[in-house]
Amino acid sequence: MVTQAENELMTRIDGDAPMGHLVREHCWIPFALSSNLVHDDGPLPVRLLGANYVAFRAEDGRVGFLDELCPHRRASLALARLDGNCLQCIYHGWKIDVSGSVVDAPTQLVRPERFAANVAVVHFPVHEAGGIAWVWLGGGDAPPFPDLPFADSAYSYLCQSRVPCNWLQGVEGTIDSVHVGMLHQTWIREAAKMAEHSNLTFALDQPPTYETEPAPYGMRAAALRTTSDGGTYVRITEHLLPFVTVVPVGQAQPRSGSVFVISPIDDTHHLLFFGYFGDTPHSAKRPSEICMEGPGYEPDPHDYTRLRGTREDRWGQDRALMDAGHWTGFGRSLLEEDVVIQTSMGPILDRTKEHLSSSDVAVAHARRMLLDALAAVADGALPPGSVRSPEPVRLPNPLEALLRDGDRWEDLSFDPVPR
Ligand code: FES
Ligand SMILES: [Fe+2]
Repeated sequence: MVTQAENELMTRIDGDAPMGHLVREHCWIPFALSSNLVHDDGPLPVRLLGANYVAFRAEDGRVGFLDELCPHRRASLALARLDGNCLQCIYHGWKIDVSGSVVDAPTQLVRPERFAANVAVVHFPVHEAGGIAWVWLGGGDAPPFPDLPFADSAYSYLCQSRVPCNWLQGVEGTIDSVHVGMLHQTWIREAAKMAEHSNLTFALDQPPTYETEPAPYGMRAAALRTTSDGGTYVRITEHLLPFVTVVPVGQAQPRSGSVFVISPIDDTHHLLFFGYFGDTPHSAKRPSEICMEGPGYEPDPHDYTRLRGTREDRWGQDRALMDAGHWTGFGRSLLEEDVVIQTSMGPILDRTKEHLSSSDVAVAHARRMLLDALAAVADGALPPGSVRSPEPVRLPNPLEALLRDGDRWEDLSFDPVPR
């Protein structure tokens, strides 16, 4: 049972809120698809933890990340021109390079170089991994980037969606795997028809039991099902506190699966990054193929996870599609179903009014872990998965397996799970 105070503590990330502090000081924060940082497209407005920034791809390929407002008279640098490796403010022409130095201040006529060298520009280090650009907003030198199973993998698919609700609803949507066989049942049936992926029908036919265990980086969650010959089929999801989750897809291989990353924009918005990485089954490679819009529908990968409406029109739900056999009436993609559901809970879900059941164990565990992490940080300790940890942070690959007699899912991994 979550109290109102706990709900506030976990969800609020703007300004000096404790959760915002935890994210800022212990995590590299995802903010954009790398493919959306294009030199010729100009600067990208970014919002994280309730504050505004601007990012840009320099001519030499590096990514600059600055406070949005120009250090001169605070015009928005989202409007700036790009000149080589610099942003040039369109108001009075100051130039700031990708490393955060003022290299030209044409409004300063007396000793301009010396003047420019003394202007402090608020800028932050960026690291690109797994097709996503991440920023370090915390104090001091940037700590090492964690080892993530999708960091160096090729993606068969990667997209982002801006979702108008609190970041924790996005995270809990990725942990709440009990919804998959219900909410996404139409998608699963279609995907299972595409062969190679027979375990998906299994997932649909039999509700699993769930078990979790804590890990140094966060949590492992197992969905367990009994097979017809009395064995146990397990799917293990790995969660890096507080917002990275990797899920097995089909016959999981090392460095393959699906990834969900949540970027906390502000108290009532988040960005969801979703992709299939590594050698995933064919049926997972083209979500567009399993859209239900019918022949000739050409989804725009940056569009078909977006909401098509508001509460007043049921977020664009297609009731005729439901009458034709589609479970949800959101036929463009599985992601659209997730985004609609999270948004339908309201800008910040009131968790005091929920009634969690036995299959919600992973969500309950994740909340307890988050509250414990907040308490640890308040006491001056490191939360699980902190990149400030002296031990390298490594998130294992997700996996699925058939357990034999005496096997324990807790012992399974492609490589040793750190303890
Ligand atoms: S406000 Fe940017 S150069 Fe003056
Ligand atoms: Fe989902």
